[in-house]
Amino acid sequence: MNAAAGSIRERDINPATRKANTETVLTPRFYTTDFDALERIDLALVRDEWNQMMSEFDNDANVDHFERPDWFSSEVKELPGPLQAEFLDFMVSSVTSEYSGCVLYADIAERVNNPEIKKLMQYMTRDEARHAGFINRSLKDYGIPVDLGYLKRNKKTTYFKPKFIYYATYLSEKIGYARYITIFRNFERHPERRFHPIFRWFEQWCNDEFRHGEAFALIMRANPHLLRGHNRLWIRFFLLAVFATMYVRDHSRPEMHKAMGLDPTDYDYEVFEVTSQISKQVFPFTLDIHNPVFRARFEKLRLLALESDAARQAGGVIGALRKASCLLRSAGVLASLYMMPVVRNELPEKVRMAPAW
Ligand SMILES: [Fe+2]
Ligand SMILES: [Fe+2]
Repeated sequence: MNAAAGSIRERDINPATRKANTETVLTPRFYTTDFDALERIDLALVRDEWNQMMSEFDNDANVDHFERPDWFSSEVKELPGPLQAEFLDFMVSSVTSEYSGCVLYADIAERVNNPEIKKLMQYMTRDEARHAGFINRSLKDYGIPVDLGYLKRNKKTTYFKPKFIYYATYLSEKIGYARYITIFRNFERHPERRFHPIFRWFEQWCNDEFRHGEAFALIMRANPHLLRGHNRLWIRFFLLAVFATMYVRDHSRPEMHKAMGLDPTDYDYEVFEVTSQISKQVFPFTLDIHNPVFRARFEKLRLLALESDAARQAGGVIGALRKASCLLRSAGVLASLYMMPVVRNELPEKVRMAPAW
């Protein structure tokens, strides 16, 4: 990095940007991949469904959706301390993951020549830029917009093989849909609990995420080897990693869930259920989320994360040892979850689904 680009130093950035730039197991990352491999994606097997999806992208139903009306600010208020802290943490995490998609899709759009993949990535970059920008406007109301340019220049980038990008991004798009729609439906039933106007935007917003997921579903179904043989072990791994991360992270925001009137465990299992139903369009199995053993092991992971956090705060040699022990035990619990039988399903002939939740 040259001196000019590095002129904003770590200590000069605001706390939201610092948080977004921090790498932990639970925070959203930035990704890069092997762009050459994306050149060779063949879509022949899903041609009709692909064309239909691309014309939806082209129609751009949400072109006006992310404009902020004048009344928006009048609904923004100072929230009770702990709720505000958790809400802003949620917003920083959300803007980071929206922007992570934006940066990855823009990179692919710029680097590939395959016209269909290029076009798709341009559409998705457009959507994610709107999403990130919209959240950041709200963070600005609280005086802590994330410096997205700083993130782009400084945040560590993780390399994933293309197939890992498909599994992980497919899941994060579909989980994004399931999370946004579950929150939106909750506030539809209880408008008095809606403590910030941004939640009003989630219904149309989540349709974008749903469609982004459809794109990766079609790419995978057009290349069936990605869903067979040892790749099934990778799919199992990503399902588990994404669900477990979400479970632990959501339980670290009790005040926000209390304000929404949602129990974090119930909310998470609702999101897992919706995601599992959707993922049957592409993955040959789902995790056995209704099994009490599965649920007990997820609880164990959550308690270990709490214990690890306490050890980190205590610090010193004892703290470090306790933290290492938590990490080892968490790996053990994850391994036992990974070995659990999955629930098999037949892939439907028609891949695409409607966002009907
Ligand atoms: Fe998005
Ligand atoms: Fe998305």
